[in-house]
Amino acid sequence: MAEFIRQAGKVAWRCPSNIAIVKYWGKHGEQLPNNTSLSITLQNAYTETVVRYEIDKNLNNVVPTFSFGKQQNLFFENRINRFLTRLQPQIPFLAHLRMNIESKNNFPHSTGIASSASAFGSLALCLCAIENQIFGHISGYLDFNQKASYLARIGSGSACRSVYEGFVVWGQHKEIETSSDIYAVPVNKNIHPVFQKMQDSILIVSSEKKLISSSEGHSLMESNPYAKVRYQFANANIGELMTTLKKGDMDHFIKITENEALGLHALMMLSEANYMLLKPNTLAIIERVKRYRTEQKIPVCFTLDAGPNIHLLYPEEYKDEVHNFIREELLPFCEHNQWIHDRIGTGPVQLVNE
Ligand code: DP6
Repeated sequence: MAEFIRQAGKVAWRCPSNIAIVKYWGKHGEQLPNNTSLSITLQNAYTETVVRYEIDKNLNNVVPTFSFGKQQNLFFENRINRFLTRLQPQIPFLAHLRMNIESKNNFPHSTGIASSASAFGSLALCLCAIENQIFGHISGYLDFNQKASYLARIGSGSACRSVYEGFVVWGQHKEIETSSDIYAVPVNKNIHPVFQKMQDSILIVSSEKKLISSSEGHSLMESNPYAKVRYQFANANIGELMTTLKKGDMDHFIKITENEALGLHALMMLSEANYMLLKPNTLAIIERVKRYRTEQKIPVCFTLDAGPNIHLLYPEEYKDEVHNFIREELLPFCEHNQWIHDRIGTGPVQLVNE
């Protein structure tokens, strides 16, 4: 191992969550995706992680202490401990680090916003910042962001896309030269202006804990009879979506986005566990969004994560109209009238490096 040029320090990163247009659903090996996915990094929904560290050469195991929004969270502590243990062979200095990890989200849990994406994204960025401080450089052939994306992926697949701004692709794809299975890449070149300021309004239909976690959902793909065709379809959707984003073809964007959202939930229904995460109010909102789009000729569409909550996507110029529509027609279907406004974002920010 290279010599340490620093013994202690403090780093902090803010990392946003992301919403997938073409979904990652199904994985193999060490968190490798079975198809390419494409997401939008958000702006307002983020996690901030602060890591204070000290090197102790006598230590032989990574020893973190935690706080989450100033509270204990045993579930997340265990998940991070497993993550750090998995990383140890690739980041040998971790074994000699005493770390205090403080992490907080600026959005409520269970809102359909992927907190694991922003949480693992921000922690991975902190680990890269620590490596930079203690050795003066990032080891290996990956640059800072690629390595952060690579590490975040080990924590949660979708997290690897959160370390970049705007439109991001994860998973090797024949039409995207720089794409890779082991880290995500930004694909913001030549995006048509209509998509550059995409808005995302998140409608909270239910904040109940999901019956089946995303990780369980991924593993159910192994026995899903539609899996093979799904992966081919998703990869074809990526190619089409890239062309659509460049051409500014809103109708086609809507078609792919909604097809992917419903396709994801169809896969859950067709899996061995035959489960359904959509709620009656999810369907009521979908119906109204389609009707509003047809009647008002406003290009708003929906997408879904692995849960019942809805993300409404639309160009910035329709923000006022869509917000009125949400307030007047959709809020009655939301839990406690809850919704969160977000938009395509500018990516992570380093908050502390001392
Ligand atoms: C439906 O990234 O949460 O949001 O890799 O097991 O942590 P793990 O799964 P996760 O899965 C996200 C699934 C999804 C689609 C997506 O974000 O692409």
